[in-house]
Amino acid sequence: MRQTIVAGNWKMNASKETVNTLVMGILSGMSDVDSKVIVCAPAPYLSQVEALITHSQLNLGAQDLNVNASGAFTGEISADMIKDFGAQYVIVGHSERRSLYFENNEVVARKVQVALDNGLTPLFCIGETLEQRESGNMESVVSAQIQAVIDLSGIGAFKDIIVAYEPVWAIGTGVTATPQQAQDAHAFIRLMLAKNDADVAQTTPILYGGSMNPGNAAELIGCEDIDGGLIGGASLKAQDFLQICKAG
Ligand code: 13P
Repeated sequence: MRQTIVAGNWKMNASKETVNTLVMGILSGMSDVDSKVIVCAPAPYLSQVEALITHSQLNLGAQDLNVNASGAFTGEISADMIKDFGAQYVIVGHSERRSLYFENNEVVARKVQVALDNGLTPLFCIGETLEQRESGNMESVVSAQIQAVIDLSGIGAFKDIIVAYEPVWAIGTGVTATPQQAQDAHAFIRLMLAKNDADVAQTTPILYGGSMNPGNAAELIGCEDIDGGLIGGASLKAQDFLQICKAG
């Protein structure tokens, strides 16, 4: 039985005041949440969130990392820096990083490996664009994204990876994949993992991301191969996020 995981990706949305209100709001409703809950904060706020969530069941993640340990990489953050603030998770290969910052499958695979090497759990994002889906290429796109990680790190790495299937056409659009579309994609991903290692495929969490909200979360998370959600917009409102956390 895989535990339900709900992760919030705040993206580039935060101020000291909103972080305080949001985290305090989430913490106030956590007592009846069974899911594992992670919040992925922008790097400048990791310290603030770390302090707020001490001794709580809330977990902290970052949104990206550099593959280098340290050095002349202006503007970047390393795995060690992320760990320094008590974060155990890091989003890797989000579609916004892939499309806006040109991260290809090989770069993303290296980031996954660096996260694992440093004891961080990567939230490894995959997913197709609308054009790719409509031209019948969803499976080949997602396969290539996963295969790059298998090629570099081996299938065993998926014991320590959380996969997030985020169809690009559903991110921030209000258009959610139907439960059937999402379940089909998740089943395909799990089958691909199973062809490499059946045991690993059974234990790897696969989250859905893309306009998940309190109204659709229960049905999506209720699907056999959907183990939780990676939430963008709805993770910025404590009550909405908590409702999703409780849907699992
Ligand atoms: P939305 O929930 O805003 O669609 O964003 C999803 C996402 O990109 C999470 O990483």
